[in-house]
Amino acid sequence: MWPVELTIKRIRSTKNRIVNWCRTCASACVTLIVRTNVRRWRKVAFGGTPSWDERNRTIARFIPSGSSVLDLGCGAQTMRQHLKPGCKYQPCDLIMSTPDVIFCDFNAGVYPDIKEHVDYVLCSGVFEYIRNPQEFLRRVTAFGRIVLMSYHPLAPRESRLIRLSMNWINHFQKAELEGMFDNLGLTWAILHIGDYGEVIYSLEINRKAGEDYTTDFEGITDRPED
Ligand SMILES: C[S@@+](CC[C@H](N)C(=O)[O-])C[C@H]1O[C@@H](n2cnc3c(N)ncnc32)[C@H](O)[C@@H]1O
Repeated sequence: MWPVELTIKRIRSTKNRIVNWCRTCASACVTLIVRTNVRRWRKVAFGGTPSWDERNRTIARFIPSGSSVLDLGCGAQTMRQHLKPGCKYQPCDLIMSTPDVIFCDFNAGVYPDIKEHVDYVLCSGVFEYIRNPQEFLRRVTAFGRIVLMSYHPLAPRESRLIRLSMNWINHFQKAELEGMFDNLGLTWAILHIGDYGEVIYSLEINRKAGEDYTTDFEGITDRPED
């Protein structure tokens, strides 16, 4: 390659790197400034099957047939089709993708007014976007017997800037998050760890003796040793 062509190639590659870095910073700024990215969530709610739907399939495997399910941050509601027969499904989100969605906006302190305790509360791909995580956990664990929640913990050397550019608001390391569960008096277990380190937890409020529930996960094949 001629020196001139080489120089042009280098300039272009530097320009692309600068443009990508500026885009990352701009997206991170949006996360810091905008409380909840409603425009993005509207696209998700009406965008059909999302690229991350395998996670919903995985979570659904832990829910026995006939269970009542409250799906917090339901998005396009693909969870509905992964549940086993006989499950009663209640979607909940800040975007009303169907008329039966219960409106909530966790970052504005708006939680659903749930009259009936459900068997399973789902938070699939939601916790990363929550500005007050302790309050969220305290509130949502009261809605049902078991919460199934996914989270991408902050990995060693992972960039917070990149997380912010993906709209992720909080950045807990795995041990920090699990410490928070303990502090809130939650009994927790890891049900699954995905290829990119995403963890699926089950959470239960510690019960007094006598009102203990037995968690019976049907068909679990990848539950780690306690
Ligand atoms: C990554 S999507 C996951 C959607 C769905 N659970 C799934 O896994 O396909 C995050 C969902 O959380 C909802 N969400 C984000 N911030 C929220 C908030 N402050 N209050 C209520 N829902 C919120 C969005 O509308 C969106 O549906």
